[in-house]
Amino acid sequence: MAIIILGIESSCDETSASVSIDGKIVSNIIANQTIHQNYGGVVPELASRVHQQNIIPTIHQAISDAKINKNQLHAVAFTRGPGLLGSLLVGVSFAKAFALALNIPLIQVNHMQAHVLAHFIAPKNSENYSPPTFPFLCLTVSGGHTQIVLVKNYFDMEIIGQTLDDAAGEAFDKTAKILGLPYPGGPLIDKYAQLGQPIYTFTEPKIADLNFSFSGLKTAILYFVRDNVKQNPDFLAQNMNNICASVQWRIVTILLNKLKKAAQQYQIKHIAIAGGVSANSGLRKELLSEAQKNNWTTYIPDFEYCTDNAAMIAIAGHYKYLNHDFVGQDITPQPRLIF
Ligand code: KG4
Ligand code: ZN
Repeated sequence: MAIIILGIESSCDETSASVSIDGKIVSNIIANQTIHQNYGGVVPELASRVHQQNIIPTIHQAISDAKINKNQLHAVAFTRGPGLLGSLLVGVSFAKAFALALNIPLIQVNHMQAHVLAHFIAPKNSENYSPPTFPFLCLTVSGGHTQIVLVKNYFDMEIIGQTLDDAAGEAFDKTAKILGLPYPGGPLIDKYAQLGQPIYTFTEPKIADLNFSFSGLKTAILYFVRDNVKQNPDFLAQNMNNICASVQWRIVTILLNKLKKAAQQYQIKHIAIAGGVSANSGLRKELLSEAQKNNWTTYIPDFEYCTDNAAMIAIAGHYKYLNHDFVGQDITPQPRLIF
């Protein structure tokens, strides 16, 4: 009998629902929240209100696109954390009520582990997809996290490096704010960077081990912009593409230098990237170039499975279902959930 799982994701500002049948994603609906653009960042209270509005239609659509009936579901998997408490509460409460009403098991999923497990979703239009083989390294880079994860098995993961301050996505978004670009700025910096050259130098922070730091870069960019605009008020408008290319190049090289170090240290040649920032064209390009030089096999999820989505929750739920790893109705969200 095919195992059918409903995945629900509501950790930040995307309400998403997805259905998997025997580990294959058959629907993945993502409702984005545009309201935060007016505020330059995600406003937690607004995010949870919009989740409330979106959750039922999103789940309804995911079930209907999967061409199944809700009574065919075997389990409901949901993001327990990490994330914003009010946002998580909406998804967790709905998952609990839905599972109770259908009398099926509940499965809790760690959002960061799910980003890694997105690599086990076969990309669209690829018949012979081979997922990563264990052990592999995954650079998980999002608006809230920057981690190098040693993935020994589906749920046996170890964080071997992480940011000590800002996340890589935050570095993109905060830079965009300094440059006067709207939120979220990561995709826009990427767009402008592709039209420019990395002619401005920002120093690489010297951080021990496999850890990262991005807060110094943010300050360096702030001073760089302030000093140049003082001399030429049109500096930003005239040089936007080159500034974005320079910032992007620095963020990407900070990430890749640590990833190379980790690959050497752990003698691993299977390298994956995940999370919203893995959509970045510079990161993808440089990763492929490093792969050639170092003989790596690389894994990059489909764009739709890079940013926050419920397909990765459904796939994680599928593997947990196989392990009978269920939770009870007393489960609560955990904003600071770690592995
Ligand atoms: O994983 P995600 O969707 O949400 C979190 O869990 O944070 O990641 C969102 C982050 C934002 O910081 C956004 O600016 C960044 O990913 N991002 C990008 C790109 N697309 C999304 N950053 C750089 N280049 C991109 N193309
Ligand atoms: Zn995420």
